[in-house]
Parts: sequence; structure tokens; C-alpha cells
Amino acid sequence: MIDERNFKSLDLDKKALKFAVASCMSDMFSNVQGEMWDALVKTRPEMLFLIGDLCYTDTFSKTDEAQLWRRFAQSRNQFAVYKMKNLIPTLATWDDHDFGGNNLGREYQFIESSTTNFMTYVAQDVWQNGPLSRGPGVSHCFEAFGLRFQLMDARTFRSQRTATNDNTHWGAAQEEWLLASLDRETRPTFIMNGSQIYGGYMQKDSYEFNHFESLRRITSELRRVSSPVIYVSGDIHASELMRIESEQLGYETFEITSSGIHSFINPFDASYVNPRRLAAKMDFNFTVIEAAAVGPDRVDLGITAYGRNRKVFYTHTASVARG
Ligand SMILES: [Fe+2]
Repeated sequence: MIDERNFKSLDLDKKALKFAVASCMSDMFSNVQGEMWDALVKTRPEMLFLIGDLCYTDTFSKTDEAQLWRRFAQSRNQFAVYKMKNLIPTLATWDDHDFGGNNLGREYQFIESSTTNFMTYVAQDVWQNGPLSRGPGVSHCFEAFGLRFQLMDARTFRSQRTATNDNTHWGAAQEEWLLASLDRETRPTFIMNGSQIYGGYMQKDSYEFNHFESLRRITSELRRVSSPVIYVSGDIHASELMRIESEQLGYETFEITSSGIHSFINPFDASYVNPRRLAAKMDFNFTVIEAAAVGPDRVDLGITAYGRNRKVFYTHTASVARG
């Protein structure tokens, strides 16, 4: 016997899902990663979403094509998430460090090989008429449990903040793909993104700060569609829950940021003022979301942020409904 794992099928037709969200998995924290993944497993999520920085390809040197593969292999060999006895169905997207380097975007020279590398490692194959479909870049749409999960690619098409034309976070093709998906059938939709959406308060690297006009444009499109939207993000190396005021989408929603399951922790909650913030914690963390689709245009949410030993940092219940 070389290895043994257990897995079971999921009932995709039920109208609720308990899922975990994690991001920012650095191999500089070998003493923490094991207990964090153990804590996550013990919360018993039915699915796991990894939303960026699954690997820090650029920790030790500037990334080239061989380094992309080598660094993913090193992370794979170390992290407990890849050695679970009982496998959790997992879907992933990337952020900058697994894409290839700090805050890179469409100018990155190895996008093609990085895409092949990432899709090989996460191995989330699409089959015809299945619940998972692929969009531009490494983006995916997963439809099940009366819900929709849009895993966005915030790197492949992203312009730098200083771009004088075509200032964009997702690129035109991915925006179109997102809106077509939301229009296809009304259902509560989690838009999952490596970078924060409403991270303007921090003045770095978010959709709102880097691509303000683009966000304003896509927000007006999202206001038009009938699927209610909840944002889920990573990147900031802190856990944060934001209330997004109804002036944005026409109804109140949330941005749930789960970042730094084992990575450098940002001492941000002392230094940034964010009027949208309901809760935050700077410590190793992951978030578990219990979502129940109450019809196509409303979802009930239970949101809990956890730390080491399953310590609860905050918990929040809410409904998001298209008015
Ligand atoms: Fe990160």
C-alpha cells in the first residue's frame, strides 16, 4: 500500500451547502499549516474553495517556468490539505503569487505556462453538461445546491493601476462570461476573487482601488441581473467581513474575505479605517460559510471565521435577497 484516501459523492440537488474558503498558503509557515488544515477539516465543510496564493512561486527568487512547477511541487509535498485521509471536493482560482509574482497582471511573460501549471495542479476537469464550466483564463463557474460559484481570474487580464487605457480587473471577455452566466438562470451567486473587491480603503491591489471605473461599470451591470451576488475574496492576509451598502447593487450584500490560512499576517486592523467593516481579525484564519438557497433570488448565510484550534473570531448570520 502506497497511499489510501476516502472520498464520496456529493448530492448536488440539495439546496444548501456548507463550504470552507481559504487563501494564502505559504510554505514559510510549516509549523502552522498542519494544525490549520486540521482545524478546517474538523469544521466538516462539504466543499473547499481555495481562492488564491495556493503557492508562493516567488518566495525565494523571481519566477521562471521551471520555478512555477518546482514551487507547486514543494507546496504539494508539504501541505496537509493534500494529504487528507477524507478528501473534500475542492475548486480553486489563483491570485498573484501562484500566478507568478507579486501583483502581476496581463504583462506577465509566462501566463500560458503558468495557466497549464495551475490547471495541472488543481486538476478540476470540466465534463460535458456537468456542474462545472470553464471561462476565460483559469476562471470557472460551478452550479449546484441551488447556488452558483463564479471563481474569477483576477490576474490574466488585469491591467496595472497606472494603465492609461483599458483599465480592467477581469478583462472584457471574462466580464461578458460572468454576466452571461448570471443571466442564464436566477440563483444566488458567490463571486470569488483572489483580490478584494471593495478594498479601496487599504489603497492597494483591490478591484476598487486599482480599477475604480471598471468596478463602477460592472456594478451597474450586476445591478441589472436578477441573481443576487455575494462577494468572497482573499489576498489581504487578514480576515474581514464587510457590509456592502444597497447603493451598490440595489440590495444589501457582503464581502467575505478569508486570507492567510498560513501566511504572513497583515497588521491591518490597527492602521486602516474601513466604514464597511463589520468584523476583522489579523491572525491565521479561514472562513466557513453555510449557505441555504431560499428560492432563486434569496440566500441565507451563516458566516464564521476561524483560527488555530478552531477558535471562532467572529460569526454573522444574514440574508441576501434581490429586492
Ligand atoms: Fe497572499
